[in-house]
Amino acid sequence: MTERPGPDDRDLEALLGPGAHGYFAGGAGDELTLRDNHDAWRRIALHPRVLVDVSERDLGTTLLGRHRPHPVVVAPMAYQKHAHELGELGSAAAAAATDSLYVLSSQTTTSPAAVADALGPSDRWFQLYVFTDRAVSHDLVAEARESGYEALVITVDFPVAGWRERDRRTGFKVEHPIALNPSGPPLTTEQLFAMHDASLTWDDIGEFADAAGMPVVLKGVLRPDDAERAVDAGAAGIIVSNHGGRQLDTTLAGVDALPPIVDAVGGSVDLLVDGGVTRGWDVAKALALGADAVLVGRHVLWGLARGGADGAEAVLRQLLAELDSTLALLGCPNARDLDLSYVGRRTAG
Ligand code: LAC
Repeated sequence: MTERPGPDDRDLEALLGPGAHGYFAGGAGDELTLRDNHDAWRRIALHPRVLVDVSERDLGTTLLGRHRPHPVVVAPMAYQKHAHELGELGSAAAAAATDSLYVLSSQTTTSPAAVADALGPSDRWFQLYVFTDRAVSHDLVAEARESGYEALVITVDFPVAGWRERDRRTGFKVEHPIALNPSGPPLTTEQLFAMHDASLTWDDIGEFADAAGMPVVLKGVLRPDDAERAVDAGAAGIIVSNHGGRQLDTTLAGVDALPPIVDAVGGSVDLLVDGGVTRGWDVAKALALGADAVLVGRHVLWGLARGGADGAEAVLRQLLAELDSTLALLGCPNARDLDLSYVGRRTAG
């Protein structure tokens, strides 16, 4: 069975050291949203249908107009060489082995071109932070476009860093070269995040979308009115996300923010959700509530930290096997047919 390490796992802290472990595991403020991202899935009940022929199951979904074999997406995560020496090459190999769409962070410790090589023909999107030095962002986008990344995921919930007390305590520094700091001495996350452009607005999104020449997905939307604006701005997809509880503490869990956004813009744009996904039945709940796909972050990263590419692959394989089993036990063999009739509220703990 795949090990299921949690964010407070002591072995992981021993493995990564307190700085890197605190950075990856931590959330903002009192970490209420970090915890709620997990709890929110558990508050949702499943309503299985019986006596349905589930001998054949189909996990497939459609994203940006293309069929994908299943709805599990590897989330963009920064500085992965601090989790394992293979870094992004390890998580990308796991994504390729499991046909999972891979989203590469612009805070990557491996170049977009090298990650593309590791992915081979496997699907990939590129996540973008707009930095105050816009040339850095534009160069990254150009490299991503040349390396076959299909969409640009612009993260919009990070004008400044969240209040992260673990990083303040440990003084964690990024020691591997990254686009923001290709050859300088290691910098703290506070120094690096001060290079994000806090003046970014809807007008800039249009500028990057035009320059990128690829579909744009906005990551970090929690309000239906912002979702409507994203559609008006031409976004092809929206990721309903509170950034893994790392930005503003006490925001809604992604899955709790999803239903009003589905009501506002569902059907006119692809909707993805993230935050605290660790089980296949979490994925089924997201789809039943109207999402087209789900991003998985830390859960894959812990697999990478423990076992490199094989560790990350094992996590993804188990998640997909759990989703397959959930479809059978729900009496809904086709993931696309999941709807609100399959979910409700759990009242017991
Ligand atoms: C973080 C960024 C870099 O949450 O995505 O640390």
